Formats: sequence, C-alpha cells, structure tokens
Amino acid sequence: MAKRNIVKIGDDVLRKICRTQLNFDERLHQTLDDMKETMYGAEGVGLAAPQIGVLRRYCVIDVGDGLIELINPVITEKSEEVQTGNEGCLSIPDRSEIVTRPMKVTVRAQNRYGENFTVTGEGLKARALCHEIDHLDGVLYIDHAKRRN
Ligand code: NI
Repeated sequence: MAKRNIVKIGDDVLRKICRTQLNFDERLHQTLDDMKETMYGAEGVGLAAPQIGVLRRYCVIDVGDGLIELINPVITEKSEEVQTGNEGCLSIPDRSEIVTRPMKVTVRAQNRYGENFTVTGEGLKARALCHEIDHLDGVLYIDHAKRRN
C-alpha cells in the first residue's frame, strides 16, 4: 500500500464525471488499498477515486464503524427528513461549511469483487455517502453549502 497525493480544489479533475468501473481486478484492489491508507493517513471519513486523480466511480468510507468500499454506488433511497451540519473535504483543506443532507440514505453498490450489496446509513454515515457519491459526478460539498451574506 502507498499513500497517494490528495488532489486539491482548483484542479479540474475534481469536476469531471467519473466512468463506471468495469474491472474488479488486482489494479482496482491496489488502488482501493492506497485510498484506504490515504484516507486514514489524512484522518478523513471518506475518499473518492477522483480525489487521487482516478476518474472512476468508487470511494471508501469509514465513519468509525468500519471500512466500506463502494464501487459504482447509486443512492436508491433518501429520507425526507434532513440533517443540517458542518461538512468538510480532504480536497478543500482548512474549511468547512453548513450543508443540509438527507438524514438517512440507502445505497446500492458493488464490492471489490464485483458482488452487489446494499448499505443504509444514518446521520454522519448518510452524510459521508452523499458527499463521496457526489464526488463521482464532479460535485463538491461547497456547491450545496448555504451562501453566507
Ligand atoms: Ni470530499
């Protein structure tokens, strides 16, 4: 495993729409392992592939209850109930903003072997799922943040 450099805001790579990951091979596993090390090394709760310059639809998340690797994740359910709270991003250092997100989401994804699974997250986990999946479409949390007057 190796730590990768985290792409910072201003780099176009963070604004691209990522492509579906079709190969569940050693190269994917290596990149996921690197992302895990990079995320933990930066004390983040999530990291998406474009944040290390890889324009593919996958991300890793750990909000304190264990690592989840999500390949080709899709949000299938969102609660009407919302949460409003502080959010940050490893690609936007030394900054955080208030963002409203669903309180609970369900996500369908594949694991590193291409097997389908579903995960439901509430609170911080729902926030992290929404945030990381946004990255795969070139969306950053500041796009959702309430504008300050
Ligand atoms: Ni982020």
